[in-house]
Amino acid sequence: MEIIIQPTTGDAAGVAARIIARLLLEKPDAVLGLATGSTPLPLYQALIAMDLDWSKVTTFNLDEYIGIPREHPQSYHTFMWENLFRHVNIAAENVHIPDGNAAGILVFCASYEEHIRAAGGIDLQVLGIGTDGHIGFNEPTSSLASRTRIKTLTPQTRKDNARFFGSEDSVPHHVITMGIGTIMEARQNLLLAFGPNKARAIAEAVEGPVTSINPASALQMHPVVKVCLDEAAASQLQRADYFRWVYENKPGWQTF
Ligand code: PGA
Repeated sequence: MEIIIQPTTGDAAGVAARIIARLLLEKPDAVLGLATGSTPLPLYQALIAMDLDWSKVTTFNLDEYIGIPREHPQSYHTFMWENLFRHVNIAAENVHIPDGNAAGILVFCASYEEHIRAAGGIDLQVLGIGTDGHIGFNEPTSSLASRTRIKTLTPQTRKDNARFFGSEDSVPHHVITMGIGTIMEARQNLLLAFGPNKARAIAEAVEGPVTSINPASALQMHPVVKVCLDEAAASQLQRADYFRWVYENKPGWQTF
């Protein structure tokens, strides 16, 4: 894992945006895995401001709620179109977001995996992290080999997401999410975390043991992971000074 600690959220999101911009310049038909929630918002704003060419880009989102309409203000479909897709020149047919209203959810989940394979696999997967260490909606104790499937949200995640829905009772219980096995097949993972409430989950994911109790810790087994943090999210890392030194002393050609 490469741990990149930046003074502010904006700086950390800027590094992440430059990593993605470099990929899109090198590979205009890249396949991106995308995330939702508060964390990727500054990343998407930075990407929009860069005015990149998205015309050949294909995207696959990590997850979606089950049982709310696609047009619901809090669906991840709505989130992605509002916060990224309608601001860039992406082709609608290249956008893939799990369908939380699919008639046959199990068949849909298998076909989502098949579509990722048919697109050539994900070049770069953007990830946020839950306060409980989840990536996508792979909650603690998710199989580290899991594929796209239905998951049941934990009370903690429903509480964390109540701010979007107005009340905890309105947060759906069930979701479709790419599995940890799916995420581990992306060629590169880019994990973002901002703010003090992510500090414990990040410290466990980066410096703790690989365990399904903190699903993000599975990324220790992935060969290409960059973790972009602001100071608050990095505040519980024991080796923060080492990570800072490594990043500040990288050869120029390796920096973003
Ligand atoms: P957040 O969610 O970015 O809204 O904090 C992160 C996540 O649940 O993965």
